[in-house]
Amino acid sequence: MQKNELERFSTLNNLCVLHKIIDLRKQISEWKSEGLSVGLVPTMGGLHNGHGSLIKLASKKCDRVIVSIFINPTQFGDDEDFETYPQTQKSDITLISEAGGDAAFIPNVSEMYPRGFSTKVSVIGLTNMLCGASRPGHFDGVTQVVAKLLNQVSADMAFFGEKDWQQLTIIKRLVRDLDIPTKIVNVATVRDEFGLALSSRNSYLNSSQLEIARKLSSVLQMTAYNIASGGYSSVECAQAMKILLNSGFDKIDYIECRDSHSLEPIERTTEDECRIFAAAYIDNVRLIDNHIVV
Ligand code: PAF
Repeated sequence: MQKNELERFSTLNNLCVLHKIIDLRKQISEWKSEGLSVGLVPTMGGLHNGHGSLIKLASKKCDRVIVSIFINPTQFGDDEDFETYPQTQKSDITLISEAGGDAAFIPNVSEMYPRGFSTKVSVIGLTNMLCGASRPGHFDGVTQVVAKLLNQVSADMAFFGEKDWQQLTIIKRLVRDLDIPTKIVNVATVRDEFGLALSSRNSYLNSSQLEIARKLSSVLQMTAYNIASGGYSSVECAQAMKILLNSGFDKIDYIECRDSHSLEPIERTTEDECRIFAAAYIDNVRLIDNHIVV
């Protein structure tokens, strides 16, 4: 969509659209000077009802909600889908406004990474396992852009989905370690009627691939149940991999049981909370999900 068309469409939807950090800061300080609290929902666009639930919760907890839309190039590997990532600005604007958002921040790449940009932001340890093991540098890109967004917005709260549990855990560590005064709020994963976690990348799947994708959640749930009932996670996860491969998944990146907070591997449950984490491919579409073990 052209910038002017986007502006007109947003005005019709009662949504303020900002592209520059300076305008973003002006808007935020206006709100703050009126004593209003601000919530941030960072996204890469391609919005669905999962994002809708982040925005709805943000608008319940905060007086004003700003949704950022930025397909962050630094979190994509060379062979990943940066070029083809879903861009659905018109429906994004409608969803933000219907879910109770007040503004969208849509910067371009040079606004976020001006010429000469040379600062890295890395959380050590939590980032080299699970998705980090097969997507080297991915979480450095995430923490880099999230640190920038949190600084730009100075929100009271920022909202992240539990589907990306590892990302959520890393961002909580980042905020704690760097004393960023924004409260990070988890929002439960939104699923379709068959349990599939909503994701912008689901739009890459055709109808038969969707059928296969829907097996992921039920297999993880069953695995979580078996581990909670005393099973060894290495055995149960190996069994889950077999079932998913037989169900039509092309490749399993990992299925692992880990502590929900430290992300350390867990073989048998204790009283500490743990989760089953998975990443699996249908063709070249990479899906992730996680389930609590209770
Ligand atoms: O989860 C996402 O959509 C992205 O990783 C985030 C947090 C918006 C950073 O680009």
